[in-house]
Amino acid sequence: MSAEQTFYVNGEWLPPARASVPVLDRGFLFGDGVYEVIPVYQGRPFRFEQHLHRLQDSLDATGIANPHDPAGWARLLDEAVQRNGGGDRSIYLQVTRGVAPRRKHPFPMDITPTVVIMSPPLELPAADVRDSGVAAITRPDPRWRHCNIKSTALLANVMLSQEACAAEAAEAILIRDGELTEGAASNVFVVHDGVVATPPHGHCLLPGVTRDLIVELAPQAGITLEERSVAEKELATADEIWISSSTRELLAVTRRDGETVGNGRVGDVWRTMYDAFQARKQEWLRGAA
Ligand code: PDD
Repeated sequence: MSAEQTFYVNGEWLPPARASVPVLDRGFLFGDGVYEVIPVYQGRPFRFEQHLHRLQDSLDATGIANPHDPAGWARLLDEAVQRNGGGDRSIYLQVTRGVAPRRKHPFPMDITPTVVIMSPPLELPAADVRDSGVAAITRPDPRWRHCNIKSTALLANVMLSQEACAAEAAEAILIRDGELTEGAASNVFVVHDGVVATPPHGHCLLPGVTRDLIVELAPQAGITLEERSVAEKELATADEIWISSSTRELLAVTRRDGETVGNGRVGDVWRTMYDAFQARKQEWLRGAA
C-alpha cells in the first residue's frame, strides 16, 4: 500500500501536487539554501542531534537564520514522520534563504527563510546489493571549496551521480589535487592491510553523520581507523573501499572503474564495521545508546 505523502511547506501540510514555493524563492533561483537528510528507524530519527548540529553549521556558514529551535525541529520532524506513516523513512528538510522581491544575487537582510520537509520511505540498499557490494567510478572533483556546507546547490553532484548511473555504478568517487575527497553523495573509506583511512573534515567534503559514527565505532569494533589525506593511488591498491551515507548506511565498493577492488568481494573489515554499525542501531532502538 503506498499512501500519498504529505509535505510541509512553511507551516502547512500539503499533498505533493499542492506543495509549492514561489518562483522568486532564492532556493529555486540560486540554490540559495541548505538541507539535511536524516534516517528514521521505527519512527525515530537516528543521530538527530548530529544532523541538527550540522544544519546549524550550514545555516551559520550561509547567514540564514535558523527558523526553529531544536525542540521546534523535533516537533515538526516527528509530525512529518507520523503524518507519513512512521516506520523506517528518511526526513528531507530544506531551509532556503526565502523569497526576495526581485532576482538579484545579493540578498535582502529582512527575508524570511522557506522551510520544506518531506518524509519518504527509507529505501536502504537491497540485501543482495549490500552483500555483493557496488560499482563506483572515479572522477575529478569539480566543486567549490565549501563542500562542508550541506547546500542545495548540487549541480556538480547531480551531474556526477548521473555519470555514475550511466556507467551502471552506484557512486562517483571524487579526486581533488591527487587526493580523495568524498563521493558525489557519500563519504569514502579505503582499507589497506586491515587499517581503514578516510579523509579528515575540512572544506573539501561534507562531515557525514554516518562517517562520523563509523569513526566513533571503529575502535570499539577493534578496527584501526585513521583520519588522514588519502592519495588517489591508494584507491588502486586498496583491499577494500567503502561508501557511507544516511540513506545507504555502509556499502562496500567491489568494482572501481571496471576493475575489481581487492578480491572483488565485500571484505572482512567491511563486514565487522557493518555489523558494529547495525549493533549500534539496535542498541539505540532499544533505548540503550
Ligand atoms: N547525502 N557527502 C555528500 C556530498 C553527501 O551528499 C552525503 C549524503 C554524504 C554523507 O553524509 P551523511 O552520512 O550525513 O548522510 C557525504 C544525502 C544522503 C543526500 O543528499 O541525499
